[in-house]
Amino acid sequence: MHFLPEDLDEYVVAHSEDEPELLQQLSRETYQKILQPRMLSGHYQGRLLSMISKLVNPKNILEIGTYTGYSALCLAEGMQKNGELDTIDINEELFDFQRKYFEKSEFGHQILQHVGDALDIIPKLNKMYDLIFVDADKENYSNYFEAIINKLNVGGIILSDNVLWSGKVLETKFKKDDTSTPALIEYNKLLKEDPRVETVVLPIRDGLTISRKL
Ligand SMILES: C[S@@+](CC[C@H](N)C(=O)[O-])C[C@H]1O[C@@H](n2cnc3c(N)ncnc32)[C@H](O)[C@@H]1O
Repeated sequence: MHFLPEDLDEYVVAHSEDEPELLQQLSRETYQKILQPRMLSGHYQGRLLSMISKLVNPKNILEIGTYTGYSALCLAEGMQKNGELDTIDINEELFDFQRKYFEKSEFGHQILQHVGDALDIIPKLNKMYDLIFVDADKENYSNYFEAIINKLNVGGIILSDNVLWSGKVLETKFKKDDTSTPALIEYNKLLKEDPRVETVVLPIRDGLTISRKL
């Protein structure tokens, strides 16, 4: 979904930071070899994630939904030298691909991969985080919020991707097999109403929400 006319969108991208060479390679290889490459954050959103991470300068980062590692590498750019990035994905087939690119980056030793269902793994992570990126199965976004909120430092940031779901969050009737849209509607309401966070929805790409823990 494009919120801006295509030419203005191109202008925005052209006047934002270039995509680093390693991420260009990762993106190319994802499109050549991996199913559903559109899940990857990509150039513009990646530069935004990097910028937010640099502004927050987190010690520890948690990512739910690694896929091929693109967003993890963007978020790692703002991480403190003694920090760690834990990233979780249920698809074990992606592990070696992710590791290859993490090792090619300067952050390989700081990125810890976890394979499995995020709802099983999060309770086992004994760490506090300054930045958390939620980008996995939409049905569980509200469950992820409850699982992570007590692992987020006060002032810490939750970034949630795909919160506008191609505009489908405006719908009031859903196809029988569409469990994602009602889940995202519930999640957006939760972030707006929960007194533990303050929240702003950014109409960028498929919708990116920034929530700050109070
Ligand atoms: C949209 S992709 C992540 C994209 C990545 N963050 C990026 O921007 O490049 C979503 C990922 O979530 C993973 N996933 C789905 N359900 C999950 C679950 N229950 N626990 C952990 N990961 C899950 C999928 O395997 C998929 O790789």
